[in-house]
Amino acid sequence: MAPTCATHVFKLIVSFMALSSFSHAYDHDPLQDFCVAVPDASAAVFVNGKICKSPKLVTPDDFHATGLNVPSNTNNSLGVGLNVVSVNRVPGLNTLGLTVVRVDFAPNGVVPPHVHPRATEVLVVLEGTLYVGFVTSNPSDGTKNRLFSKTLNAGDVYAFPPGLVHFQRNVGNTTALGIVSFNSQNPGIATSANSIFGSDPPISSEVLTKSFQLDKKTVDYLQSRHWI
Ligand SMILES: *[C@@H]1O[C@H](CO)[C@@H](O)[C@H](O)[C@H]1NC(C)=O
Ligand SMILES: *[C@@H]1O[C@H](CO)[C@@H](O)[C@H](O)[C@H]1NC(C)=O
Repeated sequence: MAPTCATHVFKLIVSFMALSSFSHAYDHDPLQDFCVAVPDASAAVFVNGKICKSPKLVTPDDFHATGLNVPSNTNNSLGVGLNVVSVNRVPGLNTLGLTVVRVDFAPNGVVPPHVHPRATEVLVVLEGTLYVGFVTSNPSDGTKNRLFSKTLNAGDVYAFPPGLVHFQRNVGNTTALGIVSFNSQNPGIATSANSIFGSDPPISSEVLTKSFQLDKKTVDYLQSRHWI
């Protein structure tokens, strides 16, 4: 079958979207009310970066998830449990630029320094006491590597700019609970220690000894650890 005009337009739009994704890393604004992700291409229409379910087949359940009232298991080396609600659980979030996560902290639990390459994060503390912070990059205004930190209690909100290293730690004597939201359906997470010492294959120790002012024994030790 000869390609139709519509096919050409479709290809042009897809090419344009592929190109424009280089110019900024944030989620595109939706071009329609919703674009519920669907694995079955035969039930699909509309394109905005992904194939969408036909609106005729969309149901209220496509926008629904349950279970954020249930604490996550924090019995791990970090003392933190995550319950992620993303497009993978709520297909109706597709192209809407949002992800939400329930974060449970055991006492002393820590979300280690990490970045989200594609999202701003907003944390709402519901229970407990958290010490949180982020470090600036190296802009030309002289604020490089400046730490902005705060101790938060229930009801407090903190914002973490996109792409900056940040962390959260439970400094209270009880468990803590927070809800974090991201303005991306795929915020990404690069945990600093894991990226650097837990890469597969490992980064050459010559790079790490010089970069981190460490001796090779320390680098070998760090690279031998289990980075979850
Ligand atoms: C925590 O996990 C360890 C090993 O993974 C296990 O031995 C231990 O029983 C667990 N503790 C609780 C309270 O579940
Ligand atoms: C935690 O408990 C210790 C000792 O019981 C107390 O000194 C400290 O103030 C408590 N911290 C918080 C945040 O309640």
